[in-house]
Amino acid sequence: CSQPVGPDDFTVFAHRGASALAPENTLAAFRRAGAEGAAWVELDVDVIGDGTVVVIHDSSLDRTTNCHGSYYDLTAADLADVDAGSWFTTPDGARPYTGESLPTLQAALEVAGEAGMGVNVELKSCEAGAAACRRLVDGVDALLEAHAERWPSLPVMLSCFNPLLLDRMAKRRPGTPRALLTKDGLLLDTWRSYVEEIGAVAVNPANLTLERGRVEEIRSLGYGVNVWTVNTLERARELSSWGVTGIFTDRVHELGALGRGGGR
Ligand code: G3P
Ligand code: MG
Repeated sequence: CSQPVGPDDFTVFAHRGASALAPENTLAAFRRAGAEGAAWVELDVDVIGDGTVVVIHDSSLDRTTNCHGSYYDLTAADLADVDAGSWFTTPDGARPYTGESLPTLQAALEVAGEAGMGVNVELKSCEAGAAACRRLVDGVDALLEAHAERWPSLPVMLSCFNPLLLDRMAKRRPGTPRALLTKDGLLLDTWRSYVEEIGAVAVNPANLTLERGRVEEIRSLGYGVNVWTVNTLERARELSSWGVTGIFTDRVHELGALGRGGGR
């Protein structure tokens, strides 16, 4: 597999799919990313009660589905009742994605594979405790193994805000590149010890608090820097000029072309 975040690349990740155009983290958003020519898609995963790995950003169903509360006790059969598309309105007020399912990681990987996109799998908070975390790691590991067998040339990257969970994933899949996500200055100040311990290839920091000096520091040590979330061409170009190696964007239809050689 090619390395996704090498020093000379500029990688554009479709953040939660083409999430400005379709409901985030749904198969529709991933298909749309593929249709827009995205090279990479980013998605968030967590685990439900029967061990099925699902694609969702929050730790509750409230914001992005027609259901409420936690999903940690659901089974795969329960997912049939979850509508992850009706909340999304187009600028003219239509809801064309009503009935869109809350996808399993297996289904999302299938869409990405068919579209020839790389996949950044972000492990979410896994708030249901140690046993659930184990099920999440087991599930992601098995699914990525099958994905690699089916599409051996398509790259995959793992990322997580929690270095301990990422470390556990690293031990299971040492050959899969991984990136440590950071949210604020605190973790960035200790980023080096974590990325060394985990064997990460990149740090993925938040856009709003990122300073040029930090990018240069991380890059000088040979690590990639992939910034989230960047939705304007102007900011993407500025970050590229700082030496940033990639961005996550909701607007892959506008910024995706930067990832095909136009980043610098
Ligand atoms: O992986 C980049 C970005 O997705 C991290 O933040 O909250 O959008 O998952 P979040
Ligand atoms: Mg994410």
